[in-house]
Amino acid sequence: MDAIEVIRAKRDGRELTPAQIDWVIDAYTRGEVADEQMSALAMAILLNGMDRREIAAWTQAMIRSGERMDWSMLDRPTADKHSTGGVGDKITLPLAPLVAACGAYVPQLSGRGLGHTGGTLDKLESIPGWRASLSNDEMLHVLRSAGAVVCAAGSGLAPADKKLYALRDVTGTVESIPLIASSIMSKKIAEGTGSLVLDVKVGSGAFMKTPETARELAETMVALGTDAGVRTVALLTAMDRPLGRAVGNALEVEEAVEVLAGGGPADVVELTVRLAEEMLAAAGISAAKEPAKALRDGSAMDAWRRMITAQGGDPDALLPRAAETMTVEAPSAGVLARLDAYAVGLAAWRLGAGRARKEDPVSFGAGVTLHAKPGDLVRAGQPLLTLHADETSRFERALEALEGGYAVGPATEDGLPLIMDRITAP
Ligand code: URA
Repeated sequence: MDAIEVIRAKRDGRELTPAQIDWVIDAYTRGEVADEQMSALAMAILLNGMDRREIAAWTQAMIRSGERMDWSMLDRPTADKHSTGGVGDKITLPLAPLVAACGAYVPQLSGRGLGHTGGTLDKLESIPGWRASLSNDEMLHVLRSAGAVVCAAGSGLAPADKKLYALRDVTGTVESIPLIASSIMSKKIAEGTGSLVLDVKVGSGAFMKTPETARELAETMVALGTDAGVRTVALLTAMDRPLGRAVGNALEVEEAVEVLAGGGPADVVELTVRLAEEMLAAAGISAAKEPAKALRDGSAMDAWRRMITAQGGDPDALLPRAAETMTVEAPSAGVLARLDAYAVGLAAWRLGAGRARKEDPVSFGAGVTLHAKPGDLVRAGQPLLTLHADETSRFERALEALEGGYAVGPATEDGLPLIMDRITAP
């Protein structure tokens, strides 16, 4: 087989055979198919799509490019959650220990942020001492002692995806539903979880801007998981405004700890509890303990403390704070009519909370605190947002990002419901 034949087939809109897909993924991983050839193929896939059989074969080939983890030695079912990424989306932080406290094991391999969406590992790394890189044995140890582990995927897991994702990032081929779905699901299936709940975000702050594209991505991923024997469901959830009141690494850890202490913003609590219920149902656990109760009685907090400690972190340590702050005030009295997720995410990124290239460091203390959410009454001059940065020079560009991103008016503009839909296998 040769790469040009495979590229021509997809360029001309033909279906790739399983043999062609297996060969091209394997040869690309080994360096036999060149980056420029894979770029051409990725662009042909972006333009001409792949059908369900091709996407399944592509995903399986990426899984076979590396190791597949196995948790069958554990005495309880495993469940995981994957979010397609949003602004202020710290849900994994309270969710993983919460589900552990309710009786499932949560083995989560997670990523770092790129662009305006934050990454779970960056958030957890703001906790002094906490370590993202674990060996498989260490993962098992943390799982057994805390019930949940959140760590970086090692280089042995879906190496074809690692190479291809970096290539897509610089060739304008990220935004292809078959390529996004196979990328996410190859890693989640290889991670070895028995069940999976997908949180597919919709809106300005998400990958998928419309409910239609989000539904197509969710249906594709649910089918891939189900076909691979992983019990998979998806929720479509709102990302037209930020989640919660904190955007930025350490700021989001603080908010997650508030949720684990039984408080926290209503939207973060509602989504955390709903996702926990979905994960427990998918894992076949008719909750020994209800998630809402585990937040109230401290058992989720106990699991969080064990999980952070087992990965070298100090759950009592003071978190990093940015050196400088600036307040954005309400321009007039009224209702906060709109607060756009993308504008706030971009502002947080420009303040230093995110990175432009994957090797860049992040500022743990940087970000945005929201003092009002859409629908709240505000007075003229009342603080709406606090910007946090290590250098005052970052404020100007963050303020530019926020221009037009919020409005105070007589009434709230239409927003998306927090939980919009639930997708299961047909
Ligand atoms: N996240 C992934 O892991 N892969 C994609 O293609 C997009 C988001």
